[in-house]
Amino acid sequence: MKIKLTNGNTIPVESHQVRIVRNVTLNPVKERLGAIRGAGFNTFCLKSRDVFVDMLTDSGTNAMSDRQLSAMMIADDAYAGSESMERLEAAINDILGFKNILPVHQGRAAEHLISRTMIKPGQVVIMNYHFTTSKVHVLFAGGVVEELCLDEALKTESSHPFKGNMDIAKLNASIRKHGKEKIAFIRMEATTNLLGGQPFSMQNLREVSKIAKENGLPLVLDGSLIAENAFFIKEREAGFKSKSVKEIILEMMSLIDLFYFSGRKSSSSRGGVIATNNEKLFNMMKPLLPVFEGFFTYGGMSSKEMEAMAVGIREMAEPNVVENVVAFVQFFVEECIKEKIPVVTPPGGLACHVDAKRFLSHIPQSEYPAGSLAAALFLISGVRGMERGTISMERNPDGSEALADIELLRLAVPRRVFTISHVLFTVDRLKWLLANKHLVGGLKFTEEPPVLRFFVGKLAPIGGWDERLVNAFEKDFGKDAC
Ligand SMILES: Cc1ncc(COP(=O)(O)O)c(C=O)c1O
Repeated sequence: MKIKLTNGNTIPVESHQVRIVRNVTLNPVKERLGAIRGAGFNTFCLKSRDVFVDMLTDSGTNAMSDRQLSAMMIADDAYAGSESMERLEAAINDILGFKNILPVHQGRAAEHLISRTMIKPGQVVIMNYHFTTSKVHVLFAGGVVEELCLDEALKTESSHPFKGNMDIAKLNASIRKHGKEKIAFIRMEATTNLLGGQPFSMQNLREVSKIAKENGLPLVLDGSLIAENAFFIKEREAGFKSKSVKEIILEMMSLIDLFYFSGRKSSSSRGGVIATNNEKLFNMMKPLLPVFEGFFTYGGMSSKEMEAMAVGIREMAEPNVVENVVAFVQFFVEECIKEKIPVVTPPGGLACHVDAKRFLSHIPQSEYPAGSLAAALFLISGVRGMERGTISMERNPDGSEALADIELLRLAVPRRVFTISHVLFTVDRLKWLLANKHLVGGLKFTEEPPVLRFFVGKLAPIGGWDERLVNAFEKDFGKDAC
């Protein structure tokens, strides 16, 4: 929840207590220099022991509740007919309203089964915006991705409450251009990750759903961050103030044909689900579950993960849980704005996103400013964020670089993990970096994997700026500085 203090400031206040902790260490800057060099200036390749504040992702890094941990103790490990699956089905039925469920090992496994069954080579998948793995699965199935987000969504500084909306005029034009036979399905992503965690409105989903129905096109929803999107609808859209997050989620679900999500985001440490009331779609995918994932009553998950997910799905619809995440991100963004750090506005749902194009405006996109910013921030603080810009893009089929629409450093806020002091420390170090940004240069690939290169690609600092930055840091903070 958000609480107004007597000094007029508003802060997020946790509606939980911390009872289990993990120790972390803030190493001296010289050690971090060795670590980032060893990681090829890719924060994905760092060892977690070298990281102080791990804001790489909210995937599988959220703190579990006591209710989730205790549910894991009663997991039923039966290969077939597991009671854990029954509890997961009951939770999905209650919170999402779907009766047919396929449990998979994580979100991308759902994308694999969906793309394999629903896309014919040459067909187009229309999206409000892509996610890295969703795009690769469409491409692997021979499909083409078409993104129809609002023009406003690509402006990092904005007051538009629903930058995750699909542009309805563009959608109509696209269906006219391709013809409905050429379109495999429409995919909407809740709290759109690569746009900076931006939601779509209920009104927009209704309009997309109507057009999809009129044209006989399946509407697929990536609901990895469904609760946040529902909460934004409650906060920002007229007519929803008095509705609960659960009621809003159910209304959203009534508008779509197929739901999938990564359980790693909000409910458990691993796992994912495909859920639908559409028997035809379900029966197309069902035979593939035991081939690629596992038997029907566990799929790609352990029974413990299914139990944690069943509780987590119920918890995500509780008002305080999702409200805490949103309030925390808002606080983070507002503290950055106070220090003139360029961030994505309005605040989104999963992270504070720093606009690397504005932060490091002297670095051309071909030299990966968001990657440089992620490496530089780690170097001077031990805070690990993730590049969400050109490095996270796939190259064009002719091998040329596909420049990202926006270059972001994502500082993820996993649920119930960090405190306000972690945020204030991070903002303070970003402020120092902004004052010293001229010391930071670009990056170039030294090892570049052919697909999803952002995960394990290695890079080098152009002109050796890493040493320069460390020297300036030691000058300001002292020789043994952390
Ligand atoms: C919106 C979205 N879809 C799909 C995925 C893929 O899920 P997973 O990492 O569980 O494979 C993610 C992961 O971050 C995501 O954010």
